[in-house]
Amino acid sequence: MGSAADPAMEVLRRESHYALRRRTLERMRSKTTDLDAAPMRIDPAVYTDPDYARQERLAIFHGHPVVAGLSRDIPEPGDMMLFDVLGPSLLLVRNKAGVVNAFRNLCPHRGAKVVTDCSRRTRMTCRFHAWTFDLDGKLIGQPGKEGFEGIDRSDLGLIPVPVAERYGLIFVQLSGERPDIDVDDWLGDFASELAHLELDKAEPVRRSEIGCEANWKYALDTYGESYHFASLHPETIGQLAYSNIMIYDNYGLHSRLAFPRGEFMDYAERDESDWPHTNYGGLYNIFPNMVINVNSIAGVGQFYGVSRVFPGDTVDSSRTLLSTYQPAHAGTEIDIARWSEMHDFIQRVVTEEDYSVSRDGQQNLTWAPEGYQTVLGRNEIALQHWHRNLNRIMSNKR
Ligand code: FES
Ligand SMILES: [Fe+2]
Repeated sequence: MGSAADPAMEVLRRESHYALRRRTLERMRSKTTDLDAAPMRIDPAVYTDPDYARQERLAIFHGHPVVAGLSRDIPEPGDMMLFDVLGPSLLLVRNKAGVVNAFRNLCPHRGAKVVTDCSRRTRMTCRFHAWTFDLDGKLIGQPGKEGFEGIDRSDLGLIPVPVAERYGLIFVQLSGERPDIDVDDWLGDFASELAHLELDKAEPVRRSEIGCEANWKYALDTYGESYHFASLHPETIGQLAYSNIMIYDNYGLHSRLAFPRGEFMDYAERDESDWPHTNYGGLYNIFPNMVINVNSIAGVGQFYGVSRVFPGDTVDSSRTLLSTYQPAHAGTEIDIARWSEMHDFIQRVVTEEDYSVSRDGQQNLTWAPEGYQTVLGRNEIALQHWHRNLNRIMSNKR
């Protein structure tokens, strides 16, 4: 069950979310949306060129911090998690002191995967020849060790990967100039908004993975605008939220969006003290690929729907890790059942609606006529900023 929310954080969170709701109501009343300065053209090659995809994996996914999970995915000493969507298999382990270590899941003996299932344990034993490592990656058991005389045992530990845990998020970074990750530097002004969410107390409810036959950017782009709600989701999301109205906050590389939900209008004329407390806080986007949807179910309460979209093995495939968390409070079994249903609903909508259109679009972009470019409207402001950030990083690397 969840831990209690910090009252001071609750106040800050509510203030932040109420401010967002005031702006959302204003946009709903005037039937307008936040807009960028001008439309923007996108070269389809960024979605289809395998060379670009290779450079992008190194520059974007290996060269910067990426969220591998939330703190309470591995809450106790000895808890571990595999994270293989960046390419190499990574192993995240909480050690005896409660600190998270990350390693290549690569045996120093002959390269087997040391961990293949993630049950809690006090040491890790490779299934190939039973070399055993402690939770800090040190080799502590080596059957037939006389066969390896002459090699310093301290050279035979697991290979560490930079890792940092902050605001309830666990970041890893595969390469780059600096050996350790400065989360506050990476998040900048966005850090305080994330701190309000108390993600360190968010308990996992359900997780799943969705494959998509489209580039990770095509798939991820479907999370960043509400322009398509009525047309693509007439029976699902389109029933719950308004189309083509968005509030956008830019935090450098990161951002926050809010889409108006239908029931907002029900309390538009009410005093704020009468507003429902389980509030909708919008979508928190951590660059490059993470969306935390702070949402609620009427009569149940708030949940966090987390989507992370990663490149697949080919330029035209991607993998989405979808996970649902309950925020800092104790949910009942009924609440948990409802959040689980919501998880399945989101998975169904994403798979059958967003990712189906993504697959078709990807195929078209692969065969796009010479000179064709997609266009992002002024109303697709979040996508414009995100693509500009991506272009900027990629052009520095190329
Ligand atoms: S490969 Fe791991 S013990 Fe041999
Ligand atoms: Fe959608």
